[in-house]
Amino acid sequence: MQTKVLKPTPESLALAAEILQKGGLVAFPTETVYGLGADATNAEAAKAIFAAKGRPADNPLIVHISSLSMLPEIVSSVPETAQKLMNAFWPGPLTIIMPKGKKIPYAVTAGLETVAVRFPVHPDAQAMIERCGLPIAAPSANLSGKPSPTTAAHVFEDMDGRIPLILDGGPCQVGLESTVVDATHGHIILLRPGGVTREMLEEALGEEVTLGRGVMEPLADGEKALSPGLKHKHYAPKAEVKVVLGPDDLRAQYILDSAAKDARPCVLCLEGRRGLYPGLTVLSAGNTPEDYAHNLFAALRHADEIGCTQVYAEGLSLEGVGLAVMNRVERAAGFHVIQL
Ligand code: TXA
Ligand code: MG
Repeated sequence: MQTKVLKPTPESLALAAEILQKGGLVAFPTETVYGLGADATNAEAAKAIFAAKGRPADNPLIVHISSLSMLPEIVSSVPETAQKLMNAFWPGPLTIIMPKGKKIPYAVTAGLETVAVRFPVHPDAQAMIERCGLPIAAPSANLSGKPSPTTAAHVFEDMDGRIPLILDGGPCQVGLESTVVDATHGHIILLRPGGVTREMLEEALGEEVTLGRGVMEPLADGEKALSPGLKHKHYAPKAEVKVVLGPDDLRAQYILDSAAKDARPCVLCLEGRRGLYPGLTVLSAGNTPEDYAHNLFAALRHADEIGCTQVYAEGLSLEGVGLAVMNRVERAAGFHVIQL
């Protein structure tokens, strides 16, 4: 199959809608990462997503909407906490897990009675969903296990020949996948930190948000995950990744000493710390934690492109978007964290 890459225009959006209505797959930009979309009411279309990504069948998909009027056919009820979060953060990078409605097949929810719903703010994502008039199931548009794509070129790298169309809306703004919360247990449980931070959720709810087990630590052998995604290896480049945490001076010394023993090492750090690593390849995380979020996945892909076999990622504090960045880097590192 030939994969077209088109800028979003009325013509390409019409083509995307036609493909989706016939049960086909289209990759499209969102404010977080690129999604691989299919009709969320069509079980066969959803199964095609799993095949194209090589995704384990037990990992459910997020259903995307372009207006609140689509919600009643997707969920069977809206918990009060979910309503508060929708009012505060939709449209935007927040996914809310609610009780599943009848129109959504189990192929989408991987057999679960709950469904993850997201209303993206990206104008091209909204236009595409609006145009085809269907809720759109979409995981990130990478091959399963690889870092999520934040440009159309990343999607092409993974999906060339597997899908008919990629809509190229330029680089994604946030750069990390949406925050995922579970609203089906009374209080809100954070299952995946993202651009909508834990602090922002707590402020909107007026109560504490619990961090799900397995989010910032590996699950024990055989332990049941609240979200199937927590069991799976994720975001990993081919290179081995180590996360280094601790006082500033100790971190640099540790990385310099260890890198001296590696064949092809590189460092991922904020620009302000580049000068600490003379003679080493430095992948820039940008100037702020928000930049780090935006640059992380592209940097991990770049490490592979330039043949690095060992990435030392400097840690951030867990405040604000730092929690989301550390969640992704620690998972990319298989929780190989060096605490000095
Ligand atoms: O930003 C995003 O969320 C992107 C864009 C395309 O919207 N999508 C995305 O999808 O990251 P994906 O499939 O890569 O991640 C969805 C996560 C998985 O970890 C999955 O296990 C979890 O959400 N999830 C989906 N439905 C769930 C459910 N009913 N219960 C628990 N976890 C669920
Ligand atoms: Mg993903």
